[in-house]
Amino acid sequence: MATILFGSTGTALLLFQLFSNLVANAVKYSPGGGTIRLAACAKGALLVVTVKDEGIGIPKSDLDRLFERYYRGGNVAGIVGTGLGLFLAKIVVELHDGAIEVESVEGGGSCLHDFPALCPQGCGSGEYPARK
Ligand SMILES: Nc1ncnc2c1ncn2[C@@H]1O[C@H](COP(=O)(O)OP(=O)(O)OP(=O)(O)O)[C@@H](O)[C@H]1O
Ligand SMILES: [Mg+2]
Repeated sequence: MATILFGSTGTALLLFQLFSNLVANAVKYSPGGGTIRLAACAKGALLVVTVKDEGIGIPKSDLDRLFERYYRGGNVAGIVGTGLGLFLAKIVVELHDGAIEVESVEGGGSCLHDFPALCPQGCGSGEYPARK
């Protein structure tokens, strides 16, 4: 498990929005139930967080557009949403010098990884490197 050294309240709030949307999506798009798995590990200077579900999955034709504002998949009729969560999640991840990836097959569950940058080694506890 990774220890995350995020110092500022603002960063913590942004990260809360990021992770809460990924977990909310996993729950919301698993209307038939199933297991949701969360994992976190350090990979070099990156924190790798994975949220995996066994829900409805995402049609292949939607995968490239999920991070667009207001975009929703073609298989979510009847499930409430605005299409903003992943748009904002990507902004938060990029503000942390990270990246976000989706793996999914329609009907076969989804796996979202994100990679906010960890404090580099030697960074003082509670500090976060200034943005360029
Ligand atoms: N875990 C998932 N399983 C299946 N589809 C997903 C999953 N996560 C995201 N999606 C697809 O990506 C789309 C965009 O997700 P996003 O979180 O941006 O919006 P939303 O969940 O529709 O609404 P909200 O703005 O309330 O989060 C969803 O509408 C859905 O089609
Ligand atoms: Mg959402």
